[in-house]
Amino acid sequence: MNKVINLNPPPGTSAATTRSIGDILVATGHLSAADVVRIGERQKQDQIQFGDAALALKLLSKADLDFALSQQFGYAYLSDQDTSLSSELVAAYKPFSRVGENLRAVRSQLMLRWFNTDPAHKVLALVSPGRGEGRSFVAANLAIVFAQQGQRTLLIDGDLRSQAHRSQQTMFKLERNVGLSGILADRAGLEVAQAVPGLPNLNVLTAGPTPPNPQELLGRPSFGQLLIAAYGKFDVILIDTPCGTDYADAEIIAARAGAAVLVARQNKSLLPQTTQLARRLQDSGVALVGSVLNDA
Ligand SMILES: Nc1ncnc2c1ncn2[C@@H]1O[C@H](COP(=O)(O)OP(=O)(O)OP(=O)(O)O)[C@@H](O)[C@H]1O
Ligand SMILES: [Mg+2]
Repeated sequence: MNKVINLNPPPGTSAATTRSIGDILVATGHLSAADVVRIGERQKQDQIQFGDAALALKLLSKADLDFALSQQFGYAYLSDQDTSLSSELVAAYKPFSRVGENLRAVRSQLMLRWFNTDPAHKVLALVSPGRGEGRSFVAANLAIVFAQQGQRTLLIDGDLRSQAHRSQQTMFKLERNVGLSGILADRAGLEVAQAVPGLPNLNVLTAGPTPPNPQELLGRPSFGQLLIAAYGKFDVILIDTPCGTDYADAEIIAARAGAAVLVARQNKSLLPQTTQLARRLQDSGVALVGSVLNDA
């Protein structure tokens, strides 16, 4: 897969760069004001950069420094000490890891093949045939890397059947609210999508309370109306789905979205089921934009 490196700083950079690295590290609890004074003295004495002086004094780790630099350049990610989200969200906690790199490579491919090919291309459903293949993991982390690129991103948890502990609400540690099921039942609108603290540009619409009739709800016109409302506010809309083999939900969602990405997990996903799901989606007119081999 070709990797495209984004050389453009994300929007908001100029405001962000006015904060010094020292200010950012004090504000996030990595350094005390006294540490900053010591680092300043070492900087002057050895004529070196702030980061190098802090490392020489062993007041910071390389990870702390990467974190501060990313904040200074408006690239949102969370420090290890911040436990506001689940650690499964590697794009937020370890953006420079191999998985982070791969997620950005997938983002580039999806931009080239889908989002950049037509202004109307804004929605993608993440689908796979079986349980536990990483749809929710890939959907959440991809949503984060799109948001980090400055795209106004909405992640919709379309898995109305998931147990609470496997939901996007749990991963992003969000409030339990009416969510998607409430919107589909005409009890709320897009305003119930929640911002994610520390990750600007990202909003998550939780699945909401588990309804008795997920498939029937997803087939309602209110789903289409929700997507139309979201089109006006977001650049990228990703939808997590339940497994495609046991239920028709994923197909209904993908047909609404118009496009899907197939997630397959090495040593777990079964080829015949994956091929069958791909064929069913294509028969319903869904554009299969690509596939992600999730090798965890
Ligand atoms: N690439 C990965 N790296 C590390 N952990 C992963 C990866 N992909 C998935 N996982 C982990 O595997 C487990 C199952 O993943 P996930 O919940 O995303 O699958 P799913 O397809 O959404 O499952 P479900 O059928 O329950 O909806 C989770 O604990 C998740 O954190
Ligand atoms: Mg899931």
